[in-house]
Parts: sequence; structure tokens; C-alpha cells
Amino acid sequence: MNEQSNVAGIPVGVVGLGLMGSSIVAALLIAGHPVKAISPITPDAQNAYERIFTQLNYCLEAGLIDSVEKFRSMLHISEDYATLAPCEVVIECVIEKLEIKSEVYKKITSAVSPSCIIGSNTSAIPISDLQTYVANPERFLGIHWAEPAFMTRFLEITCGNQTTATYADRIFSLAHRWGKEPTLLKKDIRGFITNRLMYSVYREIFHQIESGNATREDVDKAFRYDAGSWMTLMGLFRRMDYTGLKDYGTILNNIFPQLSNTETVPPIMQKMVTDAARGVHNDKGLYPYEPGEGKQWDEAFTRFNQEIHQLAANYSEENVKNQLNHTKAKS
Ligand SMILES: NC(=O)c1ccc[n+]([C@@H]2O[C@H](COP(=O)([O-])OP(=O)(O)OC[C@H]3O[C@@H](n4cnc5c(N)ncnc54)[C@H](O)[C@@H]3O)[C@@H](O)[C@H]2O)c1
Repeated sequence: MNEQSNVAGIPVGVVGLGLMGSSIVAALLIAGHPVKAISPITPDAQNAYERIFTQLNYCLEAGLIDSVEKFRSMLHISEDYATLAPCEVVIECVIEKLEIKSEVYKKITSAVSPSCIIGSNTSAIPISDLQTYVANPERFLGIHWAEPAFMTRFLEITCGNQTTATYADRIFSLAHRWGKEPTLLKKDIRGFITNRLMYSVYREIFHQIESGNATREDVDKAFRYDAGSWMTLMGLFRRMDYTGLKDYGTILNNIFPQLSNTETVPPIMQKMVTDAARGVHNDKGLYPYEPGEGKQWDEAFTRFNQEIHQLAANYSEENVKNQLNHTKAKS
């Protein structure tokens, strides 16, 4: 998180200060940007301010930053979209509803310059659809973060049908200064990269537990202690290289026809929706929770993120290759 270079002259806006908007603000402050944040819902503003500084304090405790005080003067929170005027980039992070996002774009575009890059943190709405609501749509793209945005290395950039590559390249380059390992998707495919991967796995895990073949605990243990032990180092294709490739032809041939291809919401998830289960947020989910247990998972995830953030940096592709060069130079 300390590899950022000077971005102090580049003001960035964030609109919507819920869970992710606050976390994105913290990430941008740590990177060194002055941030103009818009909280369209009045009571959110005070909560957001507290949440942002709580997150910055986590980073202080983890030794990732040396002070939180300097960020107070770099952050400006307002309800007034006009404060976005100097921004070179604005990231929209409001609720996942097209009718709300489209109204928000009207307000953003009337406040900023025609060349200001506008990005959406949407998880699932196609960028090409959202961009039709933006004046000068060529500067609009997906900038998809993972929670907690100030810790995770992930950042997914997606071009819509009308996005000009220079704007995407600009965000790709800035993302490195935000301490990210960005991906750049030139075509707007549903679910982008990450959600397509995760949802293909989700489909299979529901199939397994609904068929009675495995328990939730079995599924989670398999994922944590198999994939979880190598994933951050090598991803999937390099993992296949690492394991020698020779058996995959046979295995894929045998296993692909066995995998779930369902196109409907699994009944277990349908029940969660009907019961208004929110998992760790209301101690009601796919697992049973004691009161307050959800909060403990949330805290554990915060600590875990501090460690994995550092681990991912130690084993970045660049560091692994540098090690190889070092070994070559010695021999
Ligand atoms: N939560 C995640 O882990 C996650 C991950 C990736 C992407 N996203 C995406 O980020 C966006 C925000 O998600 P979140 O989890 O922060 O949601 P959230 O519910 O925590 O916050 C949404 C914010 O939207 C704003 N908002 C609500 N109604 C509004 C209105 N009528 N007009 C203007 N603004 C309004 C408010 O500021 C609110 O705080 C969504 O598009 C979501 O899909 C979320």
C-alpha cells in the first residue's frame, strides 16, 4: 500500500457512501488523492465519515500508513454535486438500481468537465447499458472494487461498447498507483471476469449440498484449504501449469458433463431471500450464528485482509520473477 506515487494533484470524486463507497474513499485517500465525496442520503454522511476513519485506523494499526490526521484535510463530504467540478475521475457507488444510478449520472455529468472519467462500481449491470445515460459516454467505464477496497489488490476495469480505450488505459495506469493489480476487460460481458468465475463455482456448490453429496462445511473446507492454499500466489492457469497439465485432457472430458448447468436460483438461496437472511450482517444465513458471531467473522476478515495484503505483495508476479533473475545472476 505504500507504493503509490504522487497523485496529490488529481482530485477524485466518489458518489454514494455506503459500505463500498466509504471503503473506496479510504483507498483513494491512502493513495494520496484529494477526495470529493458525495453522500446523496443525508444521514449516511456522518456514518460514512466515521466508517472511513475507522478503516484508516485499521490501516494505521497494520502499519500501512503512518498517520490518519493528514487525511482530514484531503476529504470533503457534501450533498452538493457541484463540489465534483475539479475531479478528473468520479466513481459512482450508489445502490444497485438502474433508475437510481441513471439519475445520479445526470447530476454527475452536469457538474464535471466533459473529459472527466466516470466509473461505476456496479457488480452486475452491463456497462454498455449504464453508459447510455451519460453525456460523452466514451469516458464511462466499469471500475469494480472488492471489499474492503482499501486492502484488496483486486480492481476490475470494464469497457462498455462506447468506451474509448485511452480512458480505460488511464484508469489502468492510475490503479497501479492505488496499489492494485488491475484487470482490463475490453468487452462488456455479463458478470465481468470475477463474478463469472465465482458464480460458476456457486452453482456447483449448491448442486452438491442440495444433492446431499457434501455438507456446507465440507464444501468450505475444500475451498479454503485446497484453492485457498495456492490461489493468491498463482491463480488458475498458472496452477494448471504448476501441476503439470498432462492429466487435464482426461479429467475435463470426464468431469465437465457431471457439473451443474442449472439456470434457476437454487432453492436454498431462494429461502435465504424469502427469509431476509443477510448472513453475518444479521446473524442469519447459510450457517447458523450465535448473536454477535457475524461481527466476529467481520473482524477476523479485517485482520486476515491485513495479512493477505502483505502476502500478495511479497509474492507478486514481479517479485517472483525478480527472485528468478537474482538466482540466475548468482549462478
Ligand atoms: N458490497 C459489496 O461487496 C460490493 C462489491 C462490489 C460492488 N458493489 C457495488 O457497489 C455499489 C454500492 O454497493 P454497497 O454495497 O456500497 O451498497 P450500500 O447499500 O452499502 O450503499 C449504497 C449507497 O447508495 C446511496 N443511495 C441509496 N439510495 C440512493 C438514491 N435514491 N440516490 C442516490 N444515492 C442513493 C447511499 O449513499 C447508500 O449509502 C452497488 O452497485 C454494488 O453492486 C458492492
